[in-house]
Amino acid sequence: MKVTMIGTGYVGLVTGTCFADFGLDVVCADIDAAKIALLEQGEVPFYEPGLAEKITQNVEAGRLAFTTDVGAAIRDADAVFIAVGTPARDDGGTDLSFIDAVAHEIGKNLNGYKVIATKSTVPPQTGARIQKILLEEAGAEAAFDVVSNPEFLREGSAVADFMRPDRIVIGAESERAVEVMKALYRPLYLIETPFIITSVASAEMIKYASNAFLAVKITFINEVANICERIGADVHVVSKSMGLDGRISPKFLHPGPGFGGSCFPKDVASLVSTAELNGYDFLVGQAALDANARQRQIMVDKIRAAADGLEGKRVAVLGLAFKPNTDDVRDSPAVDIIEGLLRGGAVVRAFDPAAMETARVVLGDRIEYAEDTYDAVADADVLVIATEWNQFRNLDLARLRDLMTRAVMVDLRNVYSPHRMHEQGFHYTSVGR
Ligand SMILES: NC(=O)c1ccc[n+]([C@@H]2O[C@H](COP(=O)([O-])OP(=O)(O)OC[C@H]3O[C@@H](n4cnc5c(N)ncnc54)[C@H](O)[C@@H]3O)[C@@H](O)[C@H]2O)c1
Repeated sequence: MKVTMIGTGYVGLVTGTCFADFGLDVVCADIDAAKIALLEQGEVPFYEPGLAEKITQNVEAGRLAFTTDVGAAIRDADAVFIAVGTPARDDGGTDLSFIDAVAHEIGKNLNGYKVIATKSTVPPQTGARIQKILLEEAGAEAAFDVVSNPEFLREGSAVADFMRPDRIVIGAESERAVEVMKALYRPLYLIETPFIITSVASAEMIKYASNAFLAVKITFINEVANICERIGADVHVVSKSMGLDGRISPKFLHPGPGFGGSCFPKDVASLVSTAELNGYDFLVGQAALDANARQRQIMVDKIRAAADGLEGKRVAVLGLAFKPNTDDVRDSPAVDIIEGLLRGGAVVRAFDPAAMETARVVLGDRIEYAEDTYDAVADADVLVIATEWNQFRNLDLARLRDLMTRAVMVDLRNVYSPHRMHEQGFHYTSVGR
């Protein structure tokens, strides 16, 4: 079976590569000629552990290719996946212009039955919108099925997540389309991955409801952490004990600077917007967005307090990506917090193992970019741990003390133990402890 992936970003490239790894014949198409040229030279346009090796293997095996000729890739395929971006509009709704453009392109190139599957996260009812565009372009006789197949992979562990997912969701209105989708995912079917076969609208909603729930869960423990600080309780003991309750589960109960990245903020905002358009006020979702924005401000306030004011202070920030093992800084708490520090008059010097280039696009020359961890910390008045990369978990504390003007650390990811840090002579602040 021939598969075309339209959009070769984090999701499209990982999905396309993994489908090729399943033995399918895959073409990844993108309108970004620079990205396709890099891939054709054997380079990966972003950082994702384990992906480069899989791309090389599958290209060498002749199962994976790249192109900017989106139309030809569509005409060649039995199944076309849409994996383009669905960014937030200023009003919180979803910008569907990339989806619409791809739908028009597919409609123009429909030359026989194809399954058109949406991997992008799209608001409920987008499947019907794609269907309408396809019919307009290809005519009422055109043979196709529109399927919703939301993706749940996480950047930083995307390949492993794709290969061992918790579930595969297939929203389809025809048996023929379901059979095609099952055939594509056959290797996962064989290892007994749960398959949820449902309507297109329910599949679209599953993705939004899942992301909104996780965002609320993170926000919930952050709010609990803020209360713990005020009453002298330790949020780690609280969250660990909560997590032992099977109804709650321990995951996503780690306090910090708030959720970020390219998915949670926009997906929660989108569900709020979809609810509103349908006459409903999604109170919990809106509260999570508001509390999350406040959490980032609370982090800036913490740093201001620890540094004894921000004006003219040198702040070393470790971590720029929205989480470890990625170079993605889209809606990263670290970047937002740095903006707050700059507004307060601080001088920021930062280091991230993978996200220096992506951060430079956003922050430009408003901050200093360090060579490594200890270079970032030199002459700093305060050190902020903003992203919990493994290499920040075992810092040489004596060396930090020597390099800094004062031994002050604000640990926004609760990587270190308050007791140990105080023993080591640090003025140490974390979240909820
Ligand atoms: N990044 C994640 O962790 C993640 C996880 C699950 C779902 N999603 C969803 O998947 C979708 C894609 O996310 P991403 O992070 O991979 O985005 P991305 O921005 O990394 O990649 C999107 C790609 O689509 C290409 N594109 C845009 N218009 C095109 C067109 N007309 N024809 C061909 N290519 C086109 C862009 O050039 C870009 O390379 C979004 O809806 C996102 O919400 C993302």
